Amino acid sequence: MNLSNRAKNLQPSPTLAVTALFKQLKREGRDVIGFGAGEPDFDTPEGIKDAAIAALKAGKTKYEPAPGSPDARQAVAEDYSARYGHPLSADNVLISCGGKHSLYLIFQSLFDPGDELLLPAPYWVSYPEQVKLAGGTTKTIRGKVENEFKITPQQLKDAIGPKSRALLLNSPGNPTGTTYSPDELTELVNIAVEAGLFVISDEIYDRLLYHGQETKSLLSFPENVRKQSIVVNGLSKAFSMTGWRVGFTIGPVDVIKAMGSLQGQMTSNICSFVLAAIPAALKNHDEDVERMRKSFEERGTLMHQLLSDIPEVKCPRPTGAFYAFPDISAYFGKKDSQGKVLNTAEELATSLLENAGVAVVPGEGFEAPEHVRLSFATDNDSIKQGVGRLREFLLSLS
Ligand SMILES: Cc1ncc(COP(=O)(O)O)c(C=O)c1O
Repeated sequence: MNLSNRAKNLQPSPTLAVTALFKQLKREGRDVIGFGAGEPDFDTPEGIKDAAIAALKAGKTKYEPAPGSPDARQAVAEDYSARYGHPLSADNVLISCGGKHSLYLIFQSLFDPGDELLLPAPYWVSYPEQVKLAGGTTKTIRGKVENEFKITPQQLKDAIGPKSRALLLNSPGNPTGTTYSPDELTELVNIAVEAGLFVISDEIYDRLLYHGQETKSLLSFPENVRKQSIVVNGLSKAFSMTGWRVGFTIGPVDVIKAMGSLQGQMTSNICSFVLAAIPAALKNHDEDVERMRKSFEERGTLMHQLLSDIPEVKCPRPTGAFYAFPDISAYFGKKDSQGKVLNTAEELATSLLENAGVAVVPGEGFEAPEHVRLSFATDNDSIKQGVGRLREFLLSLS
């Protein structure tokens, strides 16, 4: 089939691929433990489900305005105004089909062919592919593992060039599980804004912070920064609503308007009775979010401890999101039980799944080929058993 270059050049999401393979093995009855999925294992809080069911029963089954219903947009605006102290209106908010589509629309609205995104690496897999779809290019800036994968102000200054259009920040980060402090973030943001760049801040994990770690939303900066800032968030992660597909963009009215027009030609509104559940989630479920956050904090502590106890594995402590991102490259070049030499994270992850029944995401797709990503959004027993198997597997390599 003669497909478009656009379709041919796109990389499939490696995180979704691992999750799909894991689910297939599970269906086949294999004893597998999954650390691949970037989604909480908790159910969506009942009150949020009830709000959607009530809306469905009340006949909320028709088209809504493409950028989202006024009530839902207003609820998002009020929530963020209350949290960050600057007034926002519904016109500053667009509701899209997950944070993923919010980001897609941002790149489509801001990038012309040749425009460059500055992207700290390791990064979440979809950013460069979405930039490519907008005709843009990506310049990555590599954060060092010793610095919890965070980039420095000097690295950012060195990277800014004539084609640079925007800086992307993702704190807490996927796949790193680490977080920029308010001071670190402020320094980077000021450099980018002074250089005339937009700052796109993916804050989808902003409510999942651990061990007293703090970070800073772009929405809490002064006006000169906010007018060049676009924030992405949503309900997927903190509210355990990955399948509902609710993403928010919060930003300057003209950017939101442009994105809304695009959305109007692409998907229109997200599901109408899901829109009705957004105010319920934001107004009534902080306690549920905190219950899940506490649980992730304990699980992350356990996973980090077990990983750090494996000889020659280096793993920064997760301070946010729900990922551990160990460097396992000390084991490259060794042979598995079938005599296959494992030279890369992908080869190691495949052998680990086939021989020890543990699914992890290899780091290549995140531009961190020495690492694998493990999600700790799963129960303590799976963490103990799965990391135990990973340890045995690594130590059995010869
Ligand atoms: C960093 C980051 N941004 C955005 C998303 C998109 O989430 P969703 O589309 O489910 O809202 C994810 C999901 O894995 C993510 O990890």
